[in-house]
Amino acid sequence: MWKDIPLVPPNASTIATQVDLLYWFLVALTVFFVVLIGIVVVGLCTWYRKCDDGRKAVQIEGSTTLELLWTGLPLVIVIGLFAWGTSLYVTMQKVPPNAVDMYVVGKQWMWKVQHPSGVRENQDLHIAVGQPVRMTMTSEDVIHSYFIPAFRTKQDVVPGRYTQLWFEPTKVGTYHIFCAEYCGTGHSRMVGKVTVMERDDYERWLSGSTGEAPEVAGKNLFETMRCSSCHPIDPATKDIGGAPPRGPLLAGIYGKEIDLKGGGKELVTDEYIRESILKPQAKIVANYEPVMPTYEGQLGEEQILQLAAYIKSLKVTP
Ligand code: CUA
Repeated sequence: MWKDIPLVPPNASTIATQVDLLYWFLVALTVFFVVLIGIVVVGLCTWYRKCDDGRKAVQIEGSTTLELLWTGLPLVIVIGLFAWGTSLYVTMQKVPPNAVDMYVVGKQWMWKVQHPSGVRENQDLHIAVGQPVRMTMTSEDVIHSYFIPAFRTKQDVVPGRYTQLWFEPTKVGTYHIFCAEYCGTGHSRMVGKVTVMERDDYERWLSGSTGEAPEVAGKNLFETMRCSSCHPIDPATKDIGGAPPRGPLLAGIYGKEIDLKGGGKELVTDEYIRESILKPQAKIVANYEPVMPTYEGQLGEEQILQLAAYIKSLKVTP
């Protein structure tokens, strides 16, 4: 009978058990104190109720032992919960180095996902069991939230910035994806299914569909948007069209710290690349002039992710 009652969602990721443990501990702790306090309240009321045999409560006027006990005990409990929760949170933030990158764009009212191989899907998600996945997510309109209960993972998807989420599925099966942030009249329809497959099945599924890898699509964009007329790709490029390059070299820049004009440093992340495309004047690289025009309104979120994937793929070959 209990099997039919969905008290908790299926447990299908590496962190699910740890999240459940903390959750059930909190439930048990709450129940324990509710029952304990309930028994004491009812018990004392009954014991000291007005009756004829003259029982009378003894008033305690100040007791250091009692004060220490009811201050110290809750303190130890909540600090313990804080430490437990924090360590779990840190685990949930640390992306394993072998994670594959997927890109998610939320819009009213669908999820658009792009796989590393270029395959795209709407609403649903197909992944291989045992393969950690890092999702880089943004929204085209309002705040959404990507929620996969079976993986015990949920992250807001916010317009104008990237948020991240990772998980490693442990069980083959089909699970729910929900939008967990009210985002308009179609919010309840913003649902999908994540299908966790054996690796071979996943490879077969991938080969059945076609698509350009994000970095390939990004490379094409880079050329059609004429980014290459200012930004050199090859470190050996000394001039573009007879003049020194107007924009910084992009090969090998991803994940590095760069010096900014007017002092300060900036780590090159997807976020910084996005800002540099949409608001090029915000953080100018040292030794360059603020001559880049904005591409706001000309590029969609998916295209910006593709450009970032392309820049990420550019390595400096020694
Ligand atoms: Cu998207 Cu709710």
